[in-house]
Amino acid sequence: MRVLAIESSCDETAAAVIEDGRVALSSVVASQVDLHAKYGGVVPEVASRQHLRNIVPVVTEALEAAGCTLGDIEAVAGTRGPGLAGSLLVGYNAAKAIAFGRELPFIGINHLEGHIYANWLVEGPEPEFPALCLVVSGGHTDLVLMRSHGQYERLGGTRDDAAGEAFDKVGRLLGLPFPGGPHVAKAALEGGPSTLELPRAWMHGTFDFSFSGLKTAALHVVRAGQYSAPEIAWEFQEAVVDVLAGKTTRLAREMGAKNVLVAGGVAANTRLREELRRRCPVPVRIPPPKFCTDNAAMIGAVAGFRLELGERSPLDEDIFTTNNWARV
Ligand code: KG4
Ligand code: ZN
Repeated sequence: MRVLAIESSCDETAAAVIEDGRVALSSVVASQVDLHAKYGGVVPEVASRQHLRNIVPVVTEALEAAGCTLGDIEAVAGTRGPGLAGSLLVGYNAAKAIAFGRELPFIGINHLEGHIYANWLVEGPEPEFPALCLVVSGGHTDLVLMRSHGQYERLGGTRDDAAGEAFDKVGRLLGLPFPGGPHVAKAALEGGPSTLELPRAWMHGTFDFSFSGLKTAALHVVRAGQYSAPEIAWEFQEAVVDVLAGKTTRLAREMGAKNVLVAGGVAANTRLREELRRRCPVPVRIPPPKFCTDNAAMIGAVAGFRLELGERSPLDEDIFTTNNWARV
């Protein structure tokens, strides 16, 4: 089945054509990063307006890149949440409008489930269940056990900042451009190990995370002026990666997971990828960086599986509607 998928939950306008939930025939992402950089973060109203400008050209380009027209599309999928309301509304309504106009099946998809399913866009054998998913994005840090397609159990998550959010805030403290994550990672390459030690919040007895103490500790170190920005970036990244990889490894062992699936923008982090692969007792699947950060191919991957199971969403369904992810 050939699905046109649309994603606009934050500051990326994205469209993709996906075949059978596994093969990305195209994946187009129009980033608004430059637009928001001067504000140091995403401005919701600006993002929404830019989605309106981008949506038609991005969908057109995704169809062209896949070598097809709307006539070749068999179903349409759109991200229905979580995300910024003004942003979601643009892509979700565009997807519904195309489905309505072409009389095609429509399905609304949860953004986080999308991040996880980016792991099905990778060539090679399919992930095996039970799979432990580490979802690390700008808004979420969750450990979710996936027993089969569409079956999720949340076993841990952040109690304060998400991992990506912590990267972005520390990037800002260090005077690095927005979004901080990739810039902190780049700065860390020059920072090597120093005598600086930042705290790890282990939240013993739980599989929860907390990054706000680490962020505050980084703030004090920046103010004290003893260490360089690369040294702070290096130790900060080590502290985040240590806790993420440590807890994921322990939980994978405890739950007898056959695979670890990593998902979300922070999964693009090279040190996190290295440490998870080094420590985990089972194969670790991580999508290529272009499918880790926000994209529509991942939304089409979930849609492929759910449509196959006969699921459809009514066209009067709104963004944020209690959805299949709520089975978590
Ligand atoms: O999944 P995503 O694209 O958007 C959300 O759904 O939030 O994740 C964006 C987050 C941002 O916080 C960004 O700084 C972070 O992912 N990120 C990284 C890297 N690339 C993106 N964090 C650390 N290292 C990276 N290489
Ligand atoms: Zn995301």
